[in-house]
Amino acid sequence: MKPVVVAYSRVRKVAQDKLREKVDLRYYPYGTNFSNENFKKDLQIADGYIGLEKKVDEEFLSYAPHLKVASNVSVGYDNFDLEAMTKRGVMATNTPGVLDDTVADAIFGMMLAAARRISELDRYVKDGEWKTSLPDEKFGVDVHHRTLGIIGAGRIGEKIAKRAHLGFDMPILYHNRSRKKSLEEAYGATYCSLHDLLTKSDFVCLMTPSTPETRNLMGEKEFRIMKKSAIFVNGSRGATVDEDALVKALKEGEILGAALDVYKEEPIPPNHPLLTFPNVVTTPHLGSSTFVTEDNMSLLAAENVLAALAGKRPPNLLNEEVWEKK
Ligand code: GLV
Ligand code: GLV
Repeated sequence: MKPVVVAYSRVRKVAQDKLREKVDLRYYPYGTNFSNENFKKDLQIADGYIGLEKKVDEEFLSYAPHLKVASNVSVGYDNFDLEAMTKRGVMATNTPGVLDDTVADAIFGMMLAAARRISELDRYVKDGEWKTSLPDEKFGVDVHHRTLGIIGAGRIGEKIAKRAHLGFDMPILYHNRSRKKSLEEAYGATYCSLHDLLTKSDFVCLMTPSTPETRNLMGEKEFRIMKKSAIFVNGSRGATVDEDALVKALKEGEILGAALDVYKEEPIPPNHPLLTFPNVVTTPHLGSSTFVTEDNMSLLAAENVLAALAGKRPPNLLNEEVWEKK
């Protein structure tokens, strides 16, 4: 009998096809929850799980007593309770590496859109308001040659630094748990404290993973010490930003603008105050969403599941302890 794998939400067709060669795949769309009896029944007999965004915590695991592996179709895994999974001997995996350039492209797009007011002025044209040469009050600010601060210089941060240095002649500051000599040597980046990064950067780009330590990392004080001319970009997770503090900073003109791809609640509710500012570029968590990269992420996530179910060490294992105990 083939092992049973429950798939949820964004698992691309190529990956589903690949999985079906080896497993009995039970697919459920975005929004399925434990009130769905079939979903619960399938979890009861599931050997593996692959999916995007669903919380894999004590509750989820209590419905899936035979689970050996849970594979996240994303690099961030703040939706995983690793401790609970490790305790139950469930392997956890994610999809690092395959999305780095794609996310870095998106971050640059957001930075450029906010600085040059591209989404705001797109609306201006389409609303028929463009009647003279562009008035001063619609001018933007430069990106090139201005200082970029990267908070959380992981693999994606490194690709952002590459673009900033090679393409835009930007001096780069970074703040990270550890120093990265490669970033300093290749792109002239300077390691500094969070305080120095915030006070000196023209663009503050938040890329840190969401963990208990980075929760609301950007709060009132952090926005207040940023330059009034600076733009804040969030490519991390909504949990890392105090959104009330961001709204206040925007209202009081403590920063020039923001570009956000992630929010505390996703999808962001339509009446959210962050949606009322013309100087805030909002995108729907699109960082990795190109056809090629989403296919590659799903395929890597499938590879992780198949390896685990074949008794092999999955390439992107997050909780090594489970493997060592086997
Ligand atoms: C996207 O946000 C990811 O974590 O892959
Ligand atoms: C974390 O998201 C990274 O930069 O790899």
